[in-house]
Amino acid sequence: MSGPISPSDQRFLRQFSTVIVILVLVAFGLIAIAAMVYDHMPQPADPALQRSTDARIAPVGAVYAGAAGIAAMQAAQAAAAKAAASEVAYGGTLDGHDIYNHLCHTCHAKGIAGAPVVGNKTMWDPRIAQGIAVLVQHAIHGYHGPDGNYMPPKGGNPALTDAQIEATVKWMVAQAK
Ligand code: HEC
Repeated sequence: MSGPISPSDQRFLRQFSTVIVILVLVAFGLIAIAAMVYDHMPQPADPALQRSTDARIAPVGAVYAGAAGIAAMQAAQAAAAKAAASEVAYGGTLDGHDIYNHLCHTCHAKGIAGAPVVGNKTMWDPRIAQGIAVLVQHAIHGYHGPDGNYMPPKGGNPALTDAQIEATVKWMVAQAK
């Protein structure tokens, strides 16, 4: 295999290199098209990554500003009031009979510790004569009677509101009429 390359081999080599050059150009063309298509496609979003990003950029506190802020603040206050109401005695009921059944009856049903018995007119008449306002004040703040007996403030449950006590006293007084 020495000597000059035969003319037929030269032709073959020329055509073969032309084919290779064309194929290389086609390959680069395909790479360019693929890169262009990829650039124009929406990037796939990883949901886990999205979630962790959202968590990281979530606001730490709320800002109460403008009309929406006022509404949000009122909602927060309403929620707080609702939570506080659950700490009010007996669900905050203003039903005197209901409150009596929960607490006051322990002394006032049978006259324990010298408590005036509910429905006993003789026991209640002189007390009612003081006026309902005085009875309510005695029930709220506690009362030492002249014969040495003691009505504890709010019957011993400070969670009762003044309005609840008033409703209960009114109910008790009504039973003695
Ligand atoms: C631990 C027992 C006890 C409980 C519980 C109790 N009371 Fe009394 N209460 C008394 C006694 C004792 C008196 C009488 C005090 C006296 O006049 O010496 C009294 C008196 C009263 C009087 C009359 C006060 C006056 O000026 O004559 C009212 C009104 C009253 N209680 C309301 C209530 C209400 C309302 C409740 C429930 C929220 C309640 N009590 C729970 C013991 C109790």
